[in-house]
Amino acid sequence: MWPLLFLNVLILNVNALSDVEEMRGEERLFLSALGLSERPRPTGHGRRVPPVLWRMFRRRADGHAGDSDSCLVSEYGVRGNIIRYVQDQGQLMSGWSHSCQGCTEKHHFFNLSIIQPVEQLSLAQLEIKFQWNLFTSPRFLLGPQALSVSLYKVVRATLRGASHQQNRRLLLSQSVQIHPEPTSLTLDITSLAENWRKPGRNYGLVMELQPHSSNPEELLPFYPGNAVPSEPHITFPEIQASLVIVSLNPDQCRSRRRRSAIHLPVSPSNVCKLRRLYIDFKDVEWQDWIIAPQGYQANYCHGECPFPLSESLNGTNHAILQTLVHSLDPHGTPQPCCVPIRLSPISMLYYDNNDNVVLRHYQDMVVDECGCR
Ligand SMILES: *[C@@H]1O[C@H](CO)[C@@H](O)[C@H](O)[C@H]1NC(C)=O
Ligand SMILES: *[C@@H]1O[C@H](CO)[C@@H](O)[C@H](O)[C@H]1NC(C)=O
Repeated sequence: MWPLLFLNVLILNVNALSDVEEMRGEERLFLSALGLSERPRPTGHGRRVPPVLWRMFRRRADGHAGDSDSCLVSEYGVRGNIIRYVQDQGQLMSGWSHSCQGCTEKHHFFNLSIIQPVEQLSLAQLEIKFQWNLFTSPRFLLGPQALSVSLYKVVRATLRGASHQQNRRLLLSQSVQIHPEPTSLTLDITSLAENWRKPGRNYGLVMELQPHSSNPEELLPFYPGNAVPSEPHITFPEIQASLVIVSLNPDQCRSRRRRSAIHLPVSPSNVCKLRRLYIDFKDVEWQDWIIAPQGYQANYCHGECPFPLSESLNGTNHAILQTLVHSLDPHGTPQPCCVPIRLSPISMLYYDNNDNVVLRHYQDMVVDECGCR
């Protein structure tokens, strides 16, 4: 029940603002309960949320996913409660490759340091999309019809660089048709990504692209960017690589049924009960990194646990005895406390510090029932 309690304190403190330091402390505790070391500060030119993540978020928000097992990602058929779209930070390598004439190389780098040590990696799926803009390649049809794509993992960094044969191992070699529609390749690189998590082991990938054609006469080099050579050519395709990482934080994974709609009774009495609280992420100034939801019905427990404890207060035997002792000695023994006894999860979609889009399932975010403890 950590996350919710801290969020409550945070909201109350925002109202009071009596102790900014204490609030920052609570914010840190809450963020660490969310598996974040600090408040994400995305650059603001955040990436578009991939449609597949939106669909997954909506399914969860509508309660259509995770009913029986909140830590199963049915879309990928693996266990997990965190789904990240990790940005590619690689560059188009300048100049022509030394190892192959007429081909172009691109470096791909996915910074996996955002994955916390406690998380178990379930899936790393690389997707590379190729898109040709035929308007900038009017003579496209004169050039080659396909590209040979070779993907290498870089195993060490030396002065000779990632493109040197000794520094890399072939992962995939495939032909991609040059086509007006975007084409994509997907590849499961889970064990490689597991290795990338170790410090100093992630040198990324190198992709080598070589135009090929049935007619060797048509084997022409192609040009990065918008260079306009006078020879028939194809422009370099726009390449978008993304890495979907599904991981499991086992500490935040307990099977639990999702809440059904709660109808809160309105009662003026001050006895322990569930109170409505809508947390708007704008109120805690988190709207810049949380993409969705904008807020949610978190609720809280408040009220007294008076003697005699009625059954509706869901007291433990201990709480019943404590109210009895309290009624005899009000100064010596406090009343039991009104606390959450049943909580349910929500899903959140946010940007992390590296501008990656993350979909994550959080336990214990909504109070469903209160009791005296
Ligand atoms: C990876 O991301 C972390 C956290 O944002 C950053 O500290 C680190 O420098 C990054 N590493 C590389 C190689 O970019
Ligand atoms: C105690 O639990 C019942 C359901 O088991 C619930 O209806 C009731 O509201 C709970 N009491 C409080 C104080 O929340």
